[in-house]
Amino acid sequence: MARNVGVIAIDGPVAAGKTMAGRQLAKQLNFRYLDTGVMYRAITWLALKNATSMDDETALGALAGENPVRLDGWNSDQVLVGGVSVGPELREAEVDHHVSLVSRVSAVRRALVQQQRDIAAQNNIVMVGRDIGTVVLPDADLKIFITASLEERSRRRWREFLAQGREADFQQVLDETKTRDEVDSKRADSPLIPAEDAWVLDTDCLTGEQVVDLIVQRVNESCRGGKA
Ligand code: DC
Repeated sequence: MARNVGVIAIDGPVAAGKTMAGRQLAKQLNFRYLDTGVMYRAITWLALKNATSMDDETALGALAGENPVRLDGWNSDQVLVGGVSVGPELREAEVDHHVSLVSRVSAVRRALVQQQRDIAAQNNIVMVGRDIGTVVLPDADLKIFITASLEERSRRRWREFLAQGREADFQQVLDETKTRDEVDSKRADSPLIPAEDAWVLDTDCLTGEQVVDLIVQRVNESCRGGKA
């Protein structure tokens, strides 16, 4: 695939800090930003709204195929699915609870991966997800796998919930994070794993600012020395 644009793939588990780092990075580089998790959440939201069974892979695949997710804005934060503009709905607990099930379905993945590739073909982009470096954009100029321990990631999510005024029990958040990790990394199609050529960044002892600084440094190095 010939291309003259910049592509940065960021993958990693729940609450590793990918979203914050990816947005900051895209802003600094003046690239488009796309959090692909939003697309899986949009299809999950639509499935819940239409009362589609989470066990019906054919129906879920058809839903994703017939309802392209439209993402507008430099940070792709204006989301339109099934003719409806959605925002905070995508972060509701019910979507949280079902999104891993929807993202296991191959036909859903195929539809969304194609849309993600189409967007990347037209933009300098920082794309964030679980399978960006391995499946969606294997030719990315730089692949980063951002991670942190289960405890640290659960603590971050728990604090985020409290800051949003949501009720949250730390042990429950930890259990849910662990379950989502397991579903994401054990699914047959596009499991969450670092690409062989990814730079693995453990953020346990790093602030968000430090993470962004390290990535920017790495991007500058890879510009000078070719592919990272
Ligand atoms: O990053 P997030 O929590 O918003 O992602 C929501 C779900 O979508 C998560 O359970 C994994 C799935 N996902 C995926 O399978 N592939 C991606 N590229 C992005 C997200």
